[in-house]
Amino acid sequence: MVQPLNIFVLTGAGVSAESGLKTFRDSDGLWTHNDLAELATPEGFARNPARVREFYSARRKILEIAAPNKAHLALARLEKEMTALGGSVFLCTQNVDDLHEKAGHRRVVHMHGELTVTRCTMCSGRWTDRGPLTAAQVCPECGTVGTTRPHVVWFGEMPMFMDQIEQALEEADLFVAIGTSGSVYPAAGFVAEARALGIPTCEINVTRSDNTHAFDRRLYGPATEKVGQWVGEVLGD
Ligand code: APR
Repeated sequence: MVQPLNIFVLTGAGVSAESGLKTFRDSDGLWTHNDLAELATPEGFARNPARVREFYSARRKILEIAAPNKAHLALARLEKEMTALGGSVFLCTQNVDDLHEKAGHRRVVHMHGELTVTRCTMCSGRWTDRGPLTAAQVCPECGTVGTTRPHVVWFGEMPMFMDQIEQALEEADLFVAIGTSGSVYPAAGFVAEARALGIPTCEINVTRSDNTHAFDRRLYGPATEKVGQWVGEVLGD
């Protein structure tokens, strides 16, 4: 008999790697080949907004042709079936891609924002936008020109939805981290919070993460293989 559980799932770039989206710190990663200080900080944007808009516009173009993979689909299945059993899945993603949604996941908490959303630096208005970010764009909320930025959390900025995340951690029966290096806080600290709350923890990754020691259980292998296996185990396949 499958137990209804409240499951907290944290995903990182590794869950989208097999969909063709680069991670950040692997050998071909975005921060391995680009200077994050120039592309993912408010200071870098202030210095050269055109360069930053170009970087995120290129990532939007790549995302247009990316499809969700078996890991995204397995998590969407887990959410559907666990909810039907009276449990819940709180999916907190560090990713700014929309592949969880494209896989049919209903509730996705993007703590680092969303690549397909543009924000106005003047009025903070935001709107779905899959096209290129340019200085010529007019904010549909306040009418200002030249104030667009990606609705993405940069280094030095506050992650989003932290109250909801903390509450979901407290209510969880199981904490699982998938495809994250465990190198960026506060997300990298969630496993320690779960442990302190006495919640069982599991890591799914192709290799040991920076905080692998904090996990009770580790499943090593590609997300497209291991996530489906783990979901099958939870749902009693
Ligand atoms: N299957 C499972 N895990 C994988 C796969 C795969 N196919 N490919 C890579 N990984 C793992 C890597 O081993 C690594 O542990 O995914 C992780 C990717 O780590 P990072 O590139 O550091 O990405 P992430 O942990 O999501 O980064 C966190 O850092 O730059 C910020 O905001 C950015 O959200 C990002 C945050």
